[in-house]
Amino acid sequence: MPADENLRPAAGLRWGVQDCVATVTLNRPERRNAMTPTMWRGLAEIGGKILADAGVRVVVIRSEGPSFCAGIDLRMFTPEGVPGEDRGPGLDDPGFGEHIRAYQEGYLWLRDDRIVSIAAVQGHAIGAGFQLALACDLRVLADNAGLCMKEPALGLVPDLTGTKPLVELVGRPRAIEMCLTARTVGAQEARELRLAEYVVPAADLGARVADLARELTSTDAAAARATKALLAAAAANTLEQQAAAERVAQATLLRSMRGDTGGRPPG
Ligand code: CAA
Repeated sequence: MPADENLRPAAGLRWGVQDCVATVTLNRPERRNAMTPTMWRGLAEIGGKILADAGVRVVVIRSEGPSFCAGIDLRMFTPEGVPGEDRGPGLDDPGFGEHIRAYQEGYLWLRDDRIVSIAAVQGHAIGAGFQLALACDLRVLADNAGLCMKEPALGLVPDLTGTKPLVELVGRPRAIEMCLTARTVGAQEARELRLAEYVVPAADLGARVADLARELTSTDAAAARATKALLAAAAANTLEQQAAAERVAQATLLRSMRGDTGGRPPG
């Protein structure tokens, strides 16, 4: 656990940085880490602070309790709502889309080129929770994990940035099948569908993620960030554009190395 944990009890979050690894923990286990607007805004705010820390290279998203995340707090859909949560603008309000965009900010920062994000998933990851795992660059699943895009079963669409990574990872046909059946995909199937980099016994989840974080930070920081940026851009680029981007990135790295070391060649 990071030494300098910051508590955000109202948002159901805590976070901290140790060495170059930031850990963000969903901390409402009594509600299976169900998410509220305050939690989504909290994630965005914490993300801003983490990205402002140039020393952070890896971000781990984890959670307390038996489930990674049970998705949106379903009480948001009841007349009573969730105590302390405002309902935001009405459906016909022109600000409605902007409202959702603010929630999406809690997810978007996890793709930033300055960091590598890892979701550590035990138990259920449902709806908004599955999308949180999809927002991360890498996923390590406990063997008891179950992934479910529940939204269509509730008359909704997944709107927290999950549809693009899902299609990119499993392909459009499987994404359609998974979402429109709203079925739960178990850990082994998730591994076969490339939704998990690793599946480990539940008791080993924390240790495996810590090892992976260490492995990811064993390479040169500037080279790692530049390489992630290249890999992130590759799918949208033509081969020629990508080759050009590689040349630019290499020259930038070498220039900075020369400036830092007085002409030491790459080794
Ligand atoms: N919202 C609010 N409370 C929730 C919740 C949720 N999504 N999920 C669980 N809880 C609460 C339960 O009501 C229960 O509270 P009480 O102890 O007061 O009764 C407590 O958490 C424990 O829940 P369970 O006893 O059900 O725990 P379990 O371990 O047996 O099951 C579970 C866990 C499979 C996640 C189950 O709770 C469940 O199916 N939850 C609902 C999941 C769901 O449908 N989420 C919506 C996804 S769609 C979405 O997220 C939309 C979007 O982004 C826009």
